Amino acid sequence: MKLSVIGCGYLGAVHAAAMAEIGHDVIGIDVDSAKIEALQEGRAPFFEPGLPEILTSARDSGRLKFSTQLSDVRGSTVHFVAVGTPQKKGENAADLTYVDAAIHSLLPYLAPGDLVVGKSTVPVGTAARLAELVEATGASLAWNPEFLREGFAVKDTIAPDRLVYGVPEGEAGEKARAQLDEVYARALSNDTPLVVTDYATAELVKVSANAFLATKISFINAMAEIAEVTGADVTQLADAIGFDARIGRRFLNAGVGFGGGCLPKDIRAFSARAEELGRGESVAFLKEVDAINLRRRQRVVDVVVEELGDSPFEKKVAVLGLAFKPDSDDIRDSPALDVAVQLHGRGADVSAFDPEAMANSAKRYPQLAFADSADDALKDADIVVVVTEWKEFRELDPSAVAELVNGKIVVDGRNCLDAVAWREAGWRYRGMGRP
Ligand code: UGA
Repeated sequence: MKLSVIGCGYLGAVHAAAMAEIGHDVIGIDVDSAKIEALQEGRAPFFEPGLPEILTSARDSGRLKFSTQLSDVRGSTVHFVAVGTPQKKGENAADLTYVDAAIHSLLPYLAPGDLVVGKSTVPVGTAARLAELVEATGASLAWNPEFLREGFAVKDTIAPDRLVYGVPEGEAGEKARAQLDEVYARALSNDTPLVVTDYATAELVKVSANAFLATKISFINAMAEIAEVTGADVTQLADAIGFDARIGRRFLNAGVGFGGGCLPKDIRAFSARAEELGRGESVAFLKEVDAINLRRRQRVVDVVVEELGDSPFEKKVAVLGLAFKPDSDDIRDSPALDVAVQLHGRGADVSAFDPEAMANSAKRYPQLAFADSADDALKDADIVVVVTEWKEFRELDPSAVAELVNGKIVVDGRNCLDAVAWREAGWRYRGMGRP
């Protein structure tokens, strides 16, 4: 099929490349000419494992092109809208400027029978509002939320764990479904579960999935807070409750909390939308989820300051990790970066290192000191703080690190280190919600 993808950020660039990889002809559009130039040359504009490989192979096949000109969508019959919906400045609600602009500017290029497919995460009610505009051109609108995880985005796009289509009623809906079935023929032939539903349900599936995941993380972090005052071990607690198949162990890792471009802003936007709908109380718990999450960052900072005898001033703190999670260079709402900035603000001499997120972090917080390597960050450190669980940090040899530092104190903000091994190597180990 001939597809266009409007918006080539973390979501759109991967979607465009993955769709070309599975055999479609794809044109990716973005207003950012530097990004388009990189993509055209087969270079990923951000770190995502597997993306450079599929960008190159799709480009070499001639099936993947990029452009800054929206008019280049002409000839495509299915148009994916994958622009961002960030949090509004000073408000909890989602900023729909980019989605609205993308749909409006697409209208002149739509032909009757075309399908516009929203992939962006939007407040419930958005698709119904935009459908009228799209239908006036003879095209139709579907909402097809995306569940990809950064770090696994290529796999999640090519082989998703489920597909959700929000389609209009009647014949238009049947046709939209048939078009999407053709787009996703490969995944469907592999028995990928499919839910075909209305716009509102499709929009809600996305935000409620992220709200559930955020709640699960904050639940275990709340247990960590209780563990901290009782001497219990939250990691053992998570293992034990996780054996219950109804609960499950995944997303029960307590630590510095969740961040990124999705979970934090999605739960806030969901609260704001529920309030607009007069149902604020239904998701009032999400405010608590957010509050618990933000307290965990503070907790890591407090433990570090406490371990430094309440005087962090000019103490060298090695901060390992800046990205919001491993295998990503994304620092949006990153708890790790927040901890580094807060410690810097408390007067500590922070030396930060991340395998991929250094450039993004330096652009955002040039006042922080960035090390060239983990060893460089660790050299003469009075305390070590691990806040993103990169493999490189998880596999640090505590005896070797002991040779580099000035003080053998480690704060494991992700509960990702082997506490016994670090203690045996002479370290004072502080985990999150662990004795
Ligand atoms: C999240 C969802 O997992 C995806 O399904 C969704 O498509 C995506 O948002 C989106 O809306 O686009 P992502 O933001 O890539 O994906 O990251 P997650 O893997 O969900 O992790 C989010 C945060 O939670 C990270 O900071 C991570 O470190 C933290 N986390 C995760 C924990 O603190 N504990 C856990 O047990 C799991």
